[in-house]
Amino acid sequence: MFRKNPVGFLENLAKLGDVTSFRMGPQQAFFLNTPEMVRDLLIVNAHKFVKGRALQRAKSLLGEGLLTSESEFHLRQRRMIQPAFHRQRIAEYAGAMVEFGEKMSDEWRDGDERDIDKEMMRLTLNIVGKTLFSANVESETNEIGGAMTTLVEMFNLLLLPFSEILEKLPLPHSIRFKRAKKTLDKVIYKIIDERRKSGEDTGDLLSMLLLAQDEEGDGKGMSDRQIRDECLTLFLAGHETTANALTWTWYLLSQNSEKEDKFHAELDEVFADGHAPNFEDYARLPYTESVLAESMRLFPPAWALGRLSTEEHEFGGYQIPKKSLVLVSPYIAHHDSRFWKNADEFIPERWQTQGIKEAGQKYIYFPFGGGVRRCIGEQFAWTEGVLLLATLGRNWKFRLDPKQKIGLQAMITLRPKYGMRMMIEKR
Ligand code: HEM
Repeated sequence: MFRKNPVGFLENLAKLGDVTSFRMGPQQAFFLNTPEMVRDLLIVNAHKFVKGRALQRAKSLLGEGLLTSESEFHLRQRRMIQPAFHRQRIAEYAGAMVEFGEKMSDEWRDGDERDIDKEMMRLTLNIVGKTLFSANVESETNEIGGAMTTLVEMFNLLLLPFSEILEKLPLPHSIRFKRAKKTLDKVIYKIIDERRKSGEDTGDLLSMLLLAQDEEGDGKGMSDRQIRDECLTLFLAGHETTANALTWTWYLLSQNSEKEDKFHAELDEVFADGHAPNFEDYARLPYTESVLAESMRLFPPAWALGRLSTEEHEFGGYQIPKKSLVLVSPYIAHHDSRFWKNADEFIPERWQTQGIKEAGQKYIYFPFGGGVRRCIGEQFAWTEGVLLLATLGRNWKFRLDPKQKIGLQAMITLRPKYGMRMMIEKR
C-alpha cells in the first residue's frame, strides 16, 4: 500500500494515532505525527539518527556529499559550504535566475500549450547549472549538460526497490548510468583542475567550494573528490524541488482566480516602471512570497523525511528500537486541521497573520526540514521561487488544460503524477 499510494497511506495512519508502526519488507517503520515529535527527531535527538535508505542508496552517485554524509564529516562540509549561500552570494545568483526566466518568457507565444512541469524543470536546471559551474546545461553540445541530464533521469531509477541488484546487472540503463557518471566525472575533474590552476573566483558556487577552508577545524580545503561530490549533490538537490514548487503554484493560481488577481496586482504595482525583477524587489513582493509559502504548505516538494535510528529512542511513550525507519511528513502536518484552519484551501492571506518563520519554529510548517540537516539551499529556493513567479507572472497567466488529470506522485519529491499541461495566455 505504501508503494502504491504513499501519501494516502500516511493519511490513513495519521487517523489511527500520533505514533503508528508498519513493516516495509524486513524493515520496521514508524510514522510520527506531532510537532513535538518532529522537533525531537530533527533537532533534539538528531544525533541518534542517520539518513534513511533512499539517501544511503544515493551514495553510489553522490558519494559523501552534504545530503548523504553523516556526523563530523557532514558538519565539516556544511561549515565549508555555508558561505556559498550567504545573502551576498544569493543576491549575485539572482541575476541568473531572472535572466533565464526572461529567456523562457521570450520563447513563449500567446495561446501556446505547454507541459509546465517540464518547462519549470528545464528552467531550474539551467539556473543551477549556471550558478554552480557557470555552465550552459541546456546546450546539447555541452558535455556537462548531456551527462547531467542523463544522471537526473537515472537518479530516480536508483531509488526503485531492488535497484541495488539492477545496478549490478549489465542492463541498458545501468550501462548508460555508468557511462554518464564517467563522462561527468571526467568533465568535473577537468573543470576543477582548470579552476584550481587559474585561482580565479568566477562568482559561481564552484568557485566558493574551491575557496572554502575549514577554519574552525583543520584549516584545510576540500579534496577534488569532495568538491565533485558536493557539486553533484547541489545540482541534484537544487532543481527538482524548486521546479515542483513552481508547477504546483501555477496550478493553484489557475484554480483560484481571486488570489491570482491579487498576485497580478502586486506585480503590476512593483513593476509598473517596466524594470526587470531583481534581488532587492524580493522585499516588495510579500503577496508573491505568501503565494509560494502557501503552495509549499499544500504541496511540499519534500513531502516526507526519513531517518534510521542508530539507538533506541522513545517517542510519545513508545519505545522505538535501533535500526527502525522513522518517518515524518511535511505533507501530513501541513494539512492537519489541528493546526490549520480550512487546511485544504489555498489561502495565501493566512501568511500575513501567521509568520513563515514562526510556523517553522512551531514545527507545523517544515518544507525545508530542520536542525543540522535543514536545507542549505532554503534562501536560494525562496529567492529563485519568488523571482521566477514575478518574472513569468508579469507577462503570462496559465490556464489548466480541461483534460488534465491531477494526481500526486510521491517519489523523493512530490510531482504532478499526470504532468501539468497548461495554456499560456499573454497578460
Ligand atoms: C523549494 C525548494 C526546496 C525544498 C522544498 C527543499 C527541501 C529540503 C529538505 C526538506 C531537506 C532536508 C532533508 C532531510 O532532512 O532529510 C533539504 C536538504 C538539502 N537541500 Fe534542499 N530544498 C529545496 C531547494 C534546494 C536548493 C535550491 C538547493 C541547492 C542549491 C538545495 C540543497 C540541499 C542540500 C545540499 C541539502 C542537504 C543539507 C544537509 O543535509 O546538510 N535544496 N532540502
